[in-house]
Amino acid sequence: MQDQIKNINTLEELQALYTATFGKNGTMTARLKEMKNLDNDARAALNRENVILRELFKARQTEIENAVLMAGLQQQKLDVSLNAMPANRGTLHPMTQSLIEISEILESFGYAPYTGPDIEDDWHNFTALNTPDYHPARDMQDTFFLENGNVMRTQTSAIQIRTMEKTGASVKMFGIGATYRKEMDATHAPMFGQIEGLYVNKNITMSDLIGDIRAFLKRFFEIDDVELRIRPSYFPFTDPSIEIDLKWKNGRWLEIMGAGMVHPNVLRNCGINPDEYQGFAFGFGWDRLAMLKYDLPDLRDFRGNDVRWLKSAGF
Ligand code: PHE
Repeated sequence: MQDQIKNINTLEELQALYTATFGKNGTMTARLKEMKNLDNDARAALNRENVILRELFKARQTEIENAVLMAGLQQQKLDVSLNAMPANRGTLHPMTQSLIEISEILESFGYAPYTGPDIEDDWHNFTALNTPDYHPARDMQDTFFLENGNVMRTQTSAIQIRTMEKTGASVKMFGIGATYRKEMDATHAPMFGQIEGLYVNKNITMSDLIGDIRAFLKRFFEIDDVELRIRPSYFPFTDPSIEIDLKWKNGRWLEIMGAGMVHPNVLRNCGINPDEYQGFAFGFGWDRLAMLKYDLPDLRDFRGNDVRWLKSAGF
């Protein structure tokens, strides 16, 4: 019996033998029932046999369970010599890359970065920018209105107002933010990034503006010979107002940004005396600039969050 137990290799067989020995009709069970008929020595021997057999069953059970566990572990063994899956390296999104570059250039020119709320009140988005209620220029941008009269910021010019209200005259800053307009095609998205520069001080002129823009475009697009076309334009918050085109590598003119001398009413609205101070402002879509720089055709892809597109565009 003892050898029989030791030679069993599965839990099922062990269980079967245990039942045949200690079960209701088991051999040992029957013998134990007859114990009262035995003499003292035989009784002691049977008791010992009973204890030993139970111990043996228990020990064998543990051995088989361990063997099963070990076999399982052997099968699951890791082959650490296998090559790893190629790692997918992330990169900065072209929007982020261009924002970093633009900020670095403007900051090196002495412009300090500012942000503001995406939901603007009427004062900062329109009225303080010399665009009161009745002003037809409110229709220049297709505005998203909120029920409480606030708007989704249509232009980062609102950040200029907030900054001037705080700093007063003598300010050189640029605002960075998302702007929102009801428009959507390959070169317009309902949400786009805008950056606007503002420089207010004494004796600021239009040539300061054009000089900074030229230097900025030279650095950002890495072109030595910046050829600009200055066209008269209209914005309610600048006077005179201009639009600036850049001659691209293929000889085509690209519309890059709007700009102008800050309208005296705007300065007045921010508590700055326009007889003493002048300023210029310029604004551009930073998605648009990134599109040009990286030669990407469709603005909508920028916010698509599609890694395949980013990879195919070389990022
Ligand atoms: N805010 C103008 C726009 O969104 C751009 C602009 C900024 C023009 C600053 C002049 C000066 O179209």
